[in-house]
Amino acid sequence: MKIAVIGTGNMGSGFARAFASSGVDVVIGHRDPAKAASLAAEVGATVEGGGTAAAVKLADIVLLAVPYQSVASVLGEAGDLTGKILIDISNPITADYKELLLGHTTSAAEEIQKAASGAHVVKAFNTIFAGLLSPEARAGKTLQVFVAGDDADATAKVRELAEKLSFEAINAGPLSNSRFLEPIGEMNIHFGFFLGMGPTVAPAWIRV
Ligand SMILES: NC(=O)c1ccc[n+]([C@@H]2O[C@H](COP(=O)([O-])OP(=O)(O)OC[C@H]3O[C@@H](n4cnc5c(N)ncnc54)[C@H](OP(=O)(O)O)[C@@H]3O)[C@@H](O)[C@H]2O)c1
Repeated sequence: MKIAVIGTGNMGSGFARAFASSGVDVVIGHRDPAKAASLAAEVGATVEGGGTAAAVKLADIVLLAVPYQSVASVLGEAGDLTGKILIDISNPITADYKELLLGHTTSAAEEIQKAASGAHVVKAFNTIFAGLLSPEARAGKTLQVFVAGDDADATAKVRELAEKLSFEAINAGPLSNSRFLEPIGEMNIHFGFFLGMGPTVAPAWIRV
């Protein structure tokens, strides 16, 4: 199982490091292949980096670590995604981080599924801040990753991937439940950045 991480920012670099150190085969893609190659060299000798389409071609799973507003252009340059698992980690938010751009009757994940109809889109990781992607950063705490999608095999594989990064993977139902997961991600941003808790918080579902 090879995963292509598209994007070299906070989440892209965080995932690249976390996957590489957890033994997951990873390739990094970016519209600027030199940027991906430089992150790959920093992450580890076995990690490759290149253009978006080149990275996608090598992988079974593609993780989009770009802003929701950039997803359409990234999909445009990604090449054939038919049959691939496409992980959407986005919180579709405004530039000031304070509002959602869409919701109630759709979600970023559902819009991405419409745009990449041959892929199996799975929503995951949108409630995890970049600084908590590495297991070492979690101070011994087990965080939950909510995984929503319509393809049973694809969601099982993404839960397995989350578990490889030492998260507790929670089945969050069909892709349309992203309509509820994305507001939770936005609330986490408010707790982290606007309500004083800092970007080391994460939501959890507690069974009593
Ligand atoms: N940061 C978090 O803690 C966090 C937590 C949960 C979910 N998320 C989600 O994760 C995603 C990435 O967030 P981030 O914090 O990693 O953002 P970021 O640090 O700003 O990085 C964004 C990446 O996307 C690339 N990019 C931007 N526009 C692009 C375009 N049109 N075509 C191709 N690549 C483009 C950027 O490339 P350049 O550097 O060249 O512009 C950069 O590599 C977002 O959807 C966000 O909602 C973030």
